[in-house]
Amino acid sequence: GRVRAPTHIVSTICDDRGEEPTYAGVPMSTIIEKGYGVGDVISLLWFKRSLPSYCTKFIEMCIMLCADHGPCVSGAHNTIVTSRAGKDLVSCLVSGLLTIGPRFGGAIDDAARYFKEAYDKGLSPDAFVESMKKRGIRVPGIGHRIKSRDNRDKRVELLQKYARTHFPSVRYMEYAVTVENYTLSKAANLVLNVDGCIGSLFLDLLASCSLFTQQEIDEIVDIGYLNGLFVLARSIGLIGHTFDQKRLKQPLYRHPWEDVLYTKAVKMRIEYAGDL
Ligand code: ACO
Ligand code: LMR
Repeated sequence: GRVRAPTHIVSTICDDRGEEPTYAGVPMSTIIEKGYGVGDVISLLWFKRSLPSYCTKFIEMCIMLCADHGPCVSGAHNTIVTSRAGKDLVSCLVSGLLTIGPRFGGAIDDAARYFKEAYDKGLSPDAFVESMKKRGIRVPGIGHRIKSRDNRDKRVELLQKYARTHFPSVRYMEYAVTVENYTLSKAANLVLNVDGCIGSLFLDLLASCSLFTQQEIDEIVDIGYLNGLFVLARSIGLIGHTFDQKRLKQPLYRHPWEDVLYTKAVKMRIEYAGDL
């Protein structure tokens, strides 16, 4: 009989061997004929299934609302400096993307992980926050440099409003709000930020749309799909900043001396403090 040679690559999301490529089995012509949007394409290529339109609309809202947040944030700053150094589009884009991480834009997966663990264990918000403090971990999805109790993040409000209207359940997000109420009692800038809002709402989306098994949900959270939403979204803005700087013919950036505190290195005196 014929023996199939072992392959070096296994791939399950896209097949381009036929007359037209398929995304998770859906031909491209169907995607166009049915008027699918970017949210549908993300559903097929990331989650390997079609999701209901309230979910794909939510995904698209995340992408649109996180596309940019001005020139002063870490990602845009790096991209602007790189563009002004005369670099190409891809270099400008990746230098901005490389700032996305636990403090900036990349806290969505950890927010989902910690909120899920705490909610599923039935931890009260104060017990959760205090246990994180004991472990020396800042609560992912909480806190913002400029947003606060009196200067709420519009993106969070818009996503919450949409989900409260269209999702069958928003229990993880409401739990995150109880966490926010507790952290706000400590400091005014410890709001539920956009990462925490998306992380908790995505848990609600996965848990309540009845299309994912518990094992699949755990896998999505473990692997960490959700930071992908911010990476994808912010790429739109970072590309925009690259073009903006080039259009404006901005010169090489050099940070002003006046904005740097130059100090002499402090010599550490290590004192002998008893028996070795
Ligand atoms: N959990 C618990 N305590 C916190 C948190 C948090 N998430 N954030 C701040 N604090 C407390 C800490 O006590 C901190 O003191 P420490 O430095 O001794 O630990 C104190 O507030 C100081 O806070 P700020 O100076 O206001 O913090 P900063 O403005 O530097 O931090 C940041 C803002 C980075 C967003 C922070 O709140 C944080 O790390 N949050 C968790 C990560 C996160 O969600 N990032 C995504 C932000 S949204 C986005 O980027 C799109
Ligand atoms: C962002 O989306 O870039 C922000 O929330 C971060 C910031 O400091 O504004």
